Amino acid sequence: MFKKGLLFVVLLTTFAFAAVACGGNDTSEPAPAPAENGGQAPEEGATGGDATNDEAMTLYNANCMACHATDLAGGGNFPSLQNVGSKYDAGEIAGIISNGRNGMPAFQGRLTEDEINVLSQWLAAKK
Ligand code: HEC
Repeated sequence: MFKKGLLFVVLLTTFAFAAVACGGNDTSEPAPAPAENGGQAPEEGATGGDATNDEAMTLYNANCMACHATDLAGGGNFPSLQNVGSKYDAGEIAGIISNGRNGMPAFQGRLTEDEINVLSQWLAAKK
């Protein structure tokens, strides 16, 4: 996991250097594109729109994807979460995330209550 991440960073850095080297004339280089939403979804109050969705996906990618896979598909010993909302409500999901279960680690203390709620509500809508 960590090694892969490191490799990715190294590759990115290498690419960035290569791009500069080939650019030749620095002054004509456009400013680097802003990192695509560096992780924090902008707060948009209680609209419950895309901002919450983005936040949930960011949290999922950082904390859950390693086991439950990119598209919530699971695999091996890891259950799919694609229809988890028809199995549990948001409160039950929050309980599983907070306390863990069998092979699932507890996230209480690693994620805030708000983050757990955002994730639970997002997952509860997956039916
Ligand atoms: C280390 C691997 C691992 C990580 C990381 C992980 N899970 Fe799990 N998860 C599991 C396993 C294994 C189970 C099955 C537990 C069981 O059988 O009781 C599970 C079960 C679940 C369930 C219940 C699914 C069902 O159908 O009963 C939910 C919901 C869930 N995980 C959500 C999450 C969320 C949200 C995250 C990120 C915050 C997360 N998991 C991170 C391994 C993981």
